[in-house]
Amino acid sequence: MRKPLVAGNWKMNGTLESITPLVEGIKQGLTSINNVEVLICPSFVYLSNVSDLIEDTSILLGAQNVSQEDEGAFTGEISCNMLKDFDCQYVIIGHSERRSLYGESSELVAEKFIQVQKSGLTPILCVGELLEERESGETEAVIGQQLRAVLDKVGAEGFQQAVIAYEPVWAIGTGLTATPEQAQEVHGFIRDLVAEYESDRTVAEQVRILYGGSVKPDNAKEIFAKQDIDGGLIGGAALKSEDFLGICQAANG
Ligand code: 13P
Repeated sequence: MRKPLVAGNWKMNGTLESITPLVEGIKQGLTSINNVEVLICPSFVYLSNVSDLIEDTSILLGAQNVSQEDEGAFTGEISCNMLKDFDCQYVIIGHSERRSLYGESSELVAEKFIQVQKSGLTPILCVGELLEERESGETEAVIGQQLRAVLDKVGAEGFQQAVIAYEPVWAIGTGLTATPEQAQEVHGFIRDLVAEYESDRTVAEQVRILYGGSVKPDNAKEIFAKQDIDGGLIGGAALKSEDFLGICQAANG
């Protein structure tokens, strides 16, 4: 049985002033939600503050990116060990914004995946197709290439301690959501692809696959009801405690 995970990706949002009421609001509302793992991924600079705010709660902490290197002369980069100093357990890697705006290749994302796991953190590997790729029938080819770049290096075993997030790029921040059926189709494809790398389906059946892209309290329930969708990676709606809690509630069942 896969426990749902709802992760808030705050992206480059928030201020020192705004994060406290946001986290406090989430904390208060979570008392009635116990069937879901809840994760917050603030900007690097607020990890320490958020870590303090969620102390003694079940809320988990994650980062939005990390370096593939251990340490050294890499100006502006953040290492896994630094994240561990602030009690991070998860790291989002290969988000479409990193891939498209900062030129991160699938090969680099695979290196980051390996680095994250080596350090004992859990990677959340994002994959997703562009609108023109979907329209030209290339969705599975694109997702397959992004996923195989990692699977070829770590095998299915590498996903024993990992999360995958399917985020169709055309649905991110646009208000357009994949229909539950469209999302389920890709999630099923992803699970089958993991299974290709093992002799039985042990890891494929256990790995959590999140959906991301304009998830809101009013569409979350029908998306999460699909058999291969194990929660969500939430952008805009993670910035309002009521909306984020509504989505956590939908995943709670
Ligand atoms: P939105 O929920 O704002 O569409 O963002 C999704 C996302 O990119 C989460 O990583």
